[in-house]
Amino acid sequence: MSDETLSNLLTEDRRFEPPADLAAAANLTAEAYDRAAADPEGFWAEQADRLTWDTRWDQVLDWSNPPFSKWFVGGRLNAAYNCVDRHVEAGRGDKVAIHWIGEPAGDTRDITYAELKDEVSRAANALIDLGVATGDRVAIYLPMIPEAIVAMLACARIGAPHTVVFGGFSSDALASRLTDCQAKVVITADGGYRRGAASALKPAVDEARAKTAATGFEVEKVLVVRRTGQDLGEQGWDDAVDVWWHDVVDGASPEHTPEAFDAEHPLYVMYTSGTTGKPKGILHTTGGYLVGCAYTHWAVFDLKPETDVYWCTADVGWVTGHSYIVYGPLANGVTQVLYEGTPETPEKGRWWQIIEDLKVSIFYTAPTAIRSFMKQGREIPDRRDMSSLRILGSVGEPINPEAYVWYRHVIGGDRTPVVDTWWQTETGSIMISPLPGVTHGKPGSAMIPIPGVSAEVVDEEGTPVPNGSGGYLVLTQPWPSMLRTIWGDDQRYVDTYWSRFRKQGYYFAGDGSKKDSDGDLWVLGRVDDVMNVSGHRLSTTEIESALVSHPKVAEAAVVGAKDEDTGQAVCAFVILRDEFRDEADDAGEGSDIVAELRGHVRKEIGPIATPRQIMIVPELPKTRSGKIMRRLLRDVAEHREIGDVTTLADSSVMELISQGLSGGSSDD
Ligand code: WT7
Repeated sequence: MSDETLSNLLTEDRRFEPPADLAAAANLTAEAYDRAAADPEGFWAEQADRLTWDTRWDQVLDWSNPPFSKWFVGGRLNAAYNCVDRHVEAGRGDKVAIHWIGEPAGDTRDITYAELKDEVSRAANALIDLGVATGDRVAIYLPMIPEAIVAMLACARIGAPHTVVFGGFSSDALASRLTDCQAKVVITADGGYRRGAASALKPAVDEARAKTAATGFEVEKVLVVRRTGQDLGEQGWDDAVDVWWHDVVDGASPEHTPEAFDAEHPLYVMYTSGTTGKPKGILHTTGGYLVGCAYTHWAVFDLKPETDVYWCTADVGWVTGHSYIVYGPLANGVTQVLYEGTPETPEKGRWWQIIEDLKVSIFYTAPTAIRSFMKQGREIPDRRDMSSLRILGSVGEPINPEAYVWYRHVIGGDRTPVVDTWWQTETGSIMISPLPGVTHGKPGSAMIPIPGVSAEVVDEEGTPVPNGSGGYLVLTQPWPSMLRTIWGDDQRYVDTYWSRFRKQGYYFAGDGSKKDSDGDLWVLGRVDDVMNVSGHRLSTTEIESALVSHPKVAEAAVVGAKDEDTGQAVCAFVILRDEFRDEADDAGEGSDIVAELRGHVRKEIGPIATPRQIMIVPELPKTRSGKIMRRLLRDVAEHREIGDVTTLADSSVMELISQGLSGGSSDD
């Protein structure tokens, strides 16, 4: 066995300097790093002043009972007031908060901050009338319509923690979340538009209610937005429980005085999958979380709220939607785009058309989307004028250097810095990212922790690894937007995040990373995915990036499969770019394309990483948030029956892959 923690395989020499005009007017400059390091609490107190507090805090951080933190102790504030009312009071009520675009063509709505304030107040009053009190949990199961944001802010306004469940989740997933947090009310819609068709939501709520009732837990009320107008059927309405949004919200008073809550009052619970079947309810509280969102959204995107038009393509059902659609951007008073549908409806260039039409200047999306556009080819975005863009962001997975360069070049016209932002549901806000006006860009690197955040890469013992080596990515100091616990399970919180490096008091949530020769960080994916080939611990990410750097490849997923000689062997699943699709038809073992790709990895990384097997596939299995499900690919690579596919975005993908493989490819 080699004693390395994680091998450092790829080198990348491309560098992009910050544009001069951006650097000259940057919100944060290089001095912030030192200032924050010298006095982190002082720095965070300064960031907390971005918000309007009802009562100022008397202590920035209470870390006397780690890993349970309290931030801005004694401070009181209202999150919805900070996201809406204060902008109206400052005379910006007529400013557009949300340019909403429905999926059906022409279905749009502009909502000003003043209108948003009225709508949030009405919804808050309606929730109170439905019996929701401070501290009660409210579940939100909605498509990407303005009511999703209104519902979240209405909950925040009355101190009722929300739990947003992604609209693509099944009734089972909804039921387990409702039960876990004992939600009193569910806010949903009849349906939403996806890929050109109305798809129902309300029936899943009915099913979920039946499921929770069978375990003895009853949801009291279901508040239903009419979005599609689809027929709910006779069985689909229960007068004792179901209430139309337009019946109770539209007529409610637009006057509602927001109450100030303790900085540590629960703001929301966001469920994220765990290693056991039971999802973890990540708890975020009010003050520290909002400080983290407002500060990072301002610093990392170099936000100029007066002029920028911002667009984050995430769903509000994920933490990215919470922090970078709702709480960060609205606390900062920016104008943003909210889009209901998928990128290819009604045609493949829909996103680029929206950027052109609304002159979007900051655009934040995920590597999985970028790679799918690479696959389609640049002709589609090239049809649009996207010169309004000035900053591009990436989140959710490591971005392969080639995807980064394509994003910068094709979407950003080579003018725009790309910020690769590393964070998690648990961290609440961005932790590691370049600052676009300060840090130069290295394709594939999230660079260094932002000012105020402390991260390290450590070995098994918790000792920092030297530059040029890989290891475990840890956060070494508490931060304001950190999760406070797992809902109802303090012990699981301690065990899951704080036990691996208990002696050092480090937070560890499962990612591997390397430090390059300059000390910059390259996140290498989940350590659970690390392969052990002949005693070398190889990350999947670097081999995937080597494959994606081949001009014919759009996307790649790598897994380790049992191997008699080497312990594990590298198996790769590859999607070709559309223009080379013909080569996929004849892509068995020993074919030209497979040999070519093997040779390419050998050249880029070395013989140790050369895939034993490469399978050309039409699709990859992904979760609904776009993460590749390597577990299923390991099943294929090890010729096992395919495991649980219920969390796949598209369950037919595994069939496609298996069919494609029956065409003759086999192990060497
Ligand atoms: C995991 C967290 C962050 C909000 C959306 C996902 C991976 C996220 C990056 C990045 C490499 C990344 C990590 C992390 N991840 N951003 N820029 N580079 N990996 O939130 O579902 O809680 O997932 O996503 O593995 O641990 P999440």
